[in-house]
Amino acid sequence: MTYRPDAGAVPPPGCPVHHGDPGRVPGAEPLYGPEFAADPQAVYRRLRAFGPIAPVELAPGAYATLVTGYQAALDVLRSPEKFAKDARRWRALADGRVAPDNPVVPMMVYRPNCLFADGEAHARLRQPVTEGLDRVDPAALRGYVEHSADTLIDKFAPNGEADLLGDYAKALPLLVFQQLFGCPPAIGERLVQGMSGIFDGVDAERANAMLTETFMELIALKRRQPGADITSWMLAHPVGLTDEEMIHQLVVLMGAGTEPQQNLITNALRLLLSDDRFAGDLSGGSLPVEDALDEVLWLDPPMANYAVHYPVHDLDFAGVRLREGEPVVVSFAAANNDPALASEHRTGNRAHLAWSAGPHTCPGKDAARLIAAVAVEKLLDRIPDIQLAVPADQLAWRPGPFHRALAALPVRFPPVPLTVTTPLPTPASAPMTAPVRDHIDETNTPGDSRWNANPASPPLLSSTPPAAISTPRPTASAPTGRRRVWSSLAAWWHGR
Ligand code: HEM
Repeated sequence: MTYRPDAGAVPPPGCPVHHGDPGRVPGAEPLYGPEFAADPQAVYRRLRAFGPIAPVELAPGAYATLVTGYQAALDVLRSPEKFAKDARRWRALADGRVAPDNPVVPMMVYRPNCLFADGEAHARLRQPVTEGLDRVDPAALRGYVEHSADTLIDKFAPNGEADLLGDYAKALPLLVFQQLFGCPPAIGERLVQGMSGIFDGVDAERANAMLTETFMELIALKRRQPGADITSWMLAHPVGLTDEEMIHQLVVLMGAGTEPQQNLITNALRLLLSDDRFAGDLSGGSLPVEDALDEVLWLDPPMANYAVHYPVHDLDFAGVRLREGEPVVVSFAAANNDPALASEHRTGNRAHLAWSAGPHTCPGKDAARLIAAVAVEKLLDRIPDIQLAVPADQLAWRPGPFHRALAALPVRFPPVPLTVTTPLPTPASAPMTAPVRDHIDETNTPGDSRWNANPASPPLLSSTPPAAISTPRPTASAPTGRRRVWSSLAAWWHGR
């Protein structure tokens, strides 16, 4: 079978295949709808008949080339001189072949953050993110995840049943995000409210405005009063991010740090609770959990298909002529399961592409793995007799081309008593700005958290004069589009 990615761009007159859809790409497999959600690997298997790259339809009318081969995926990810991330190159959007309201547009359209930047612009935007994340002390992070997990588990433990997605995995990354980014209680609560409004689709416009205002407030607060948190470290970074850039960076961090994180937790729990290889040793140590995480990252990576790239000029790749500006999407899920790879050595092998590779590799991967491991271990430790409430093969997956996400994870268990919640990993003399209501000291000063307790971390702001962190930077551009910056999160959540 041969694949010509440009075949749909100019349909031959009267072509019987195009049926009134002038942009239709013959043979393109849909990556949307219930069939794909139920068994994406079956679709990837069919696509391999084309070779390591194949035509797909991400949503009705939005075509792309999907990279399904492992080596081909690495070649794309590691060749920024040929494949760019800047979505302003997306020709089909520019010339109207893809409508602005197409469901995949919010996740693919250009935004001024590190995900859509190339070269020096990318390095400038990514540096504050990686350096901020590097300063997080793993022991403090572990302690905060345990504390958040205990708080959430206490709410459903006496009931004997729960939805581990809605009651646990969804909330936990948000709590951790608030702590990492130094949100004081009032701001943290509004972030949760705004996110619920966006994700549940209830008065989304108001929620949009609230989230944007809330992040503006956080940025202003951290400029006035920096703390030991990632927001303050990013603001103080010598590259000098503007307020507008900070909002876009925080949106991508929040999107990346919550949705895939919850999916890693639920996909790992599903595996642990349904696969006999993990039975009997669930609470017996950390090894099975680490193994389950490796297996999920290989077989069911939370971000299944993404890393959208655009050829910078027409080029030959894997025997196919790719057109400048037509999207090339990397399938982490298909590449990880490429039959050309030996599959028997996955345990303990971290060569999967779940975190991507090349210049845009996930900068949060160490934190994300730690958060997932602790969240899973804590749950199984507190409720060892937990079991799925429905057979694993009857669990529903949310549709959408980009994620591998369960719609719910219902479980039942003998009710367990509440325990004394794990204390936060800070001395009493240095209270944290914990956003969890039950544990909030309203008198806390924002920024009292101790993420920089890592002795290897450089001292806070050592290279930056104080004036640079206390003077608000002028906004680089008018805040146009701010109300829409949240639509990517909502689109993702709603499975588009
Ligand atoms: C299980 C959880 C996570 C998974 C599976 C994941 C996966 C990924 C992947 C595949 C990419 C590359 C996307 C692309 O090139 O289009 C990426 C990028 C990114 N991730 Fe993660 N991520 C996770 C958690 C996190 C966390 C916790 C953070 C930070 C709080 C984070 C921050 C980012 C950022 C900022 C980027 C963009 C980097 C760049 O473009 O230079 N991620 N992530």
